[in-house]
Amino acid sequence: MIELTDREFTTLRDYVLKNFGIDLSKKRVLIQGRLTTTLQQKGFANFTDYIQFVMADKTGTEVNLLLNKLTTNLTYFMREKEHFDYVRDVVLPEFDRAGGKREIRVWSAGCSSGEEPYTLAMTIMDYYAGKGNAPKISLLASDISQKVLAEAQKAVYLEEGLKDLPTGWKTKYFDHMGGDEYRVKDAVRQKVTFKTVNLMDPFRFSAPFEIIFCRNVMIYFEKQRKNELINKYYTWTRPGFYFFISHSENVDRNSSQFRMVKPSIFRRDP
Ligand SMILES: C[S@@+](CC[C@H](N)C(=O)[O-])C[C@H]1O[C@@H](n2cnc3c(N)ncnc32)[C@H](O)[C@@H]1O
Repeated sequence: MIELTDREFTTLRDYVLKNFGIDLSKKRVLIQGRLTTTLQQKGFANFTDYIQFVMADKTGTEVNLLLNKLTTNLTYFMREKEHFDYVRDVVLPEFDRAGGKREIRVWSAGCSSGEEPYTLAMTIMDYYAGKGNAPKISLLASDISQKVLAEAQKAVYLEEGLKDLPTGWKTKYFDHMGGDEYRVKDAVRQKVTFKTVNLMDPFRFSAPFEIIFCRNVMIYFEKQRKNELINKYYTWTRPGFYFFISHSENVDRNSSQFRMVKPSIFRRDP
């Protein structure tokens, strides 16, 4: 094991917090354990040289690889199904009743390998299937990691991963590629735009969103950065519409204007 000195740990922790909002203060043992192999593979004898190398890489590739080692990209289709049921049963009917707007804008922030935005796209397509009033569906799926975004754009998944989807969706929304591989159909993929976004950066969009999902992403964020991020989401949520986090997370009620409608589901007042 390569030793991580106090100074090296502080430098790395401060750099990641400042640039990515991720709080590594309790992850010292994890950093040393998980990154020792990375250092050895890249031929570094100590953390100081490795940290300098990561900071000097302006493409962001090295820091992405580092964060991938310390955080998780775990995701799956229909994760926390109640959220998709809520979109179908409450949000979309409200969108229809609000009228006047023929495009529904949805953002999956921290989308990892794509299961979340594709589940959202299929949920919305399924809701409007056969209805005459379908709006244009525009889904933004973003992540800081280009590696997971490349997987998401490939859109190829193992059959085992599709088991939680409703009956019939496998044939309706996927093409069988042979073996146990399935690819999300063109019609679904066309609704989703993938983009690299660091959630710590200022947001620039053409219009607000009716639905924002940011689930299992803020768990690593330092409290104040998380509160600031939730306020940015508030600004970009269309009045009367919704913001979703995971059931294992929370929103500090004193620092957010969102109203909780159910645990993990928030609404911006109309
Ligand atoms: C556990 S996955 C969540 C995937 C999906 N939202 C879900 O709930 O299944 C967390 C994702 O957040 C991304 N992430 C972490 N920090 C980020 C940041 N500062 N900006 C953008 N994405 C970030 C990671 O790259 C990772 O893919």
